[in-house]
Amino acid sequence: MARPLIDFIYAQNLPWVNGKLGPAREDVAAKILSFDPDLGEVSAVVHYPPGWSRDRPEALSCEEEFYVLDGEMIIGNRRYSRDTYACLPAGFTRETAASPTGCVVLTFYDGLAGSVSPGGDRRPGSALIEFIDLYSMPWDTNWADQSLKWMDPRRKVLRWDTERDQVATVVFAKPPHIHPEGWSSPMVSHPCAEETFVLAGEVTGERGRQRAGAYMWHPAGAPHGTLGSRDGGMSLARMRHGKLENIWDGSASAAFTFEAPYDPKVPEELASVAKEYVGQNRY
Ligand SMILES: [Fe+2]
Repeated sequence: MARPLIDFIYAQNLPWVNGKLGPAREDVAAKILSFDPDLGEVSAVVHYPPGWSRDRPEALSCEEEFYVLDGEMIIGNRRYSRDTYACLPAGFTRETAASPTGCVVLTFYDGLAGSVSPGGDRRPGSALIEFIDLYSMPWDTNWADQSLKWMDPRRKVLRWDTERDQVATVVFAKPPHIHPEGWSSPMVSHPCAEETFVLAGEVTGERGRQRAGAYMWHPAGAPHGTLGSRDGGMSLARMRHGKLENIWDGSASAAFTFEAPYDPKVPEELASVAKEYVGQNRY
């Protein structure tokens, strides 16, 4: 069964757990945002404790895509600090890895993390993006869908899906004082799954205000309203398993208000953690 609709939860309300990422990552704690039991795909906030290290070459059986939220990780001779990104394919060799002071990393695995021989086969089609520092990447303010122009959105494309010729992983920023035209929004859906994690600020939709740490998984075809923002907000988004296009449903609209109460729609097992969060932590 693919991942069900999660709209939305706060990472802050999830427990840190061990042993859910696969045998090669038994020694780190994680907050599991979502998990696909068929594919083994997992989206998680991972905490590497201070002093965590791998002194010998290591390769994982899965692709590891990550965005550093806090602290520092050193892989080979690269230093990953807050707001850096990488996508390391299955079989990619990390000569060494260490986090002397610890770090917290938003991580996406496309299977459970096992160990494979360093230098072994890479899965075909998987991207290698060794390092992006988001501070050195300009915002793209000219992008395709003219129907979204009123939002003045900007993005930084971290990963491109070359097979479907569409964005795969991206950071979106929304300026403050943005609301759907007419204070309501036609519903939109996409033929692909879409997941988002709010990095900073807030974005507001029909299910409430999503602040930093808010996580959402929309399966393909899940209708949703568009998001406004009073304060401005920034999210990391990933599109998976299908064509990315906006399918607007003119017959249904989502009423919009900045005061929308938190109204989560989540699977039963997340019901107890689907609570509002108003503190200062970002994850
Ligand atoms: Fe969407």
